[in-house]
Amino acid sequence: MKPALIVHGGAWDIPDEAVDACKSGCHRALSAGWSILSSGGSALDAIEAAIIVLEDDPVFDAGYGSHLTLDGHVECDAIVMSGATLRAGAAATLQRIKNPIQVARKILENCPHMMLVAEGAERFAKDQGMPLCKPEEMVSEAEQEAWMKCKADKHAAEHHRGHEQGTVGAVAIDAVGNLFAATSTGGTCCKLPGRVGDSPLIGCGCYADSEAGGVSCTGYGEAIMKVVLAKTAVDLLRQRAICVDPPAASSCDASTADFAARQAVHLFAKRTRATGGLILLDRHGNPSFAFNTPRMAHGYVAPDGTFLTAV
Ligand code: GLY
Repeated sequence: MKPALIVHGGAWDIPDEAVDACKSGCHRALSAGWSILSSGGSALDAIEAAIIVLEDDPVFDAGYGSHLTLDGHVECDAIVMSGATLRAGAAATLQRIKNPIQVARKILENCPHMMLVAEGAERFAKDQGMPLCKPEEMVSEAEQEAWMKCKADKHAAEHHRGHEQGTVGAVAIDAVGNLFAATSTGGTCCKLPGRVGDSPLIGCGCYADSEAGGVSCTGYGEAIMKVVLAKTAVDLLRQRAICVDPPAASSCDASTADFAARQAVHLFAKRTRATGGLILLDRHGNPSFAFNTPRMAHGYVAPDGTFLTAV
């Protein structure tokens, strides 16, 4: 099977001055993931590598440089899900983990549970040999400044370089057909401590099923949860997949992926009046995306191996 990879850096009102940084971040994430996939590596390794690039880049709201809580701390959420087993590893409200996606992967692979939060998740990470950082090491100067403006004035998007959402995500299929999806976020700015959004919740911010496809979402978490957006998109892929299943050798065309992406975001917007977006791969590796925000940072690998990125 031909490998496939798609990434996103969030659907938000990305200001002109952040466009190049967002595009470049998506390009570097594709590069990190594709170097693994194109040399026969696993989809799990590829999405982890891609997400680490995005988490380390403070232009995105994940890992270092995430938005701060009302108390001035970073609290990160992340999830990774296997399309073959339907098993997920998810972690929420992490304060001392540089790359939350690595904890999610450890939970996927080495934990009897599918989700751990806060101190318990960090203790598990430590037991797994992961280093814990100081909470203040996760705070970027830009977010500290934005948080101080929110405290002094009132919480406002313009204090945050014009953006409020910059969740990151990736979906990949490798040469042996394994499908994985992942999402990582710092959540919403000035959120209450302990708030968990859609991102680490199976079916909300992320879902993968090898029989249909994989999805990673971005946008306002409280709304995404209402329509279980990632699972909704995968269900739409499945409906189409069932239609084309017989004969077994037939494959969905790209319109199946486009239909599911657009229809899921349409349903989300109609039922919640909120904004967001998603990326997906159908079970054959066809990429698609949709969003109802002014912009969404995203990128995927075209059939000829070219990296296509856009904001
Ligand atoms: N979609 C990210 C969040 O609301 O936490």
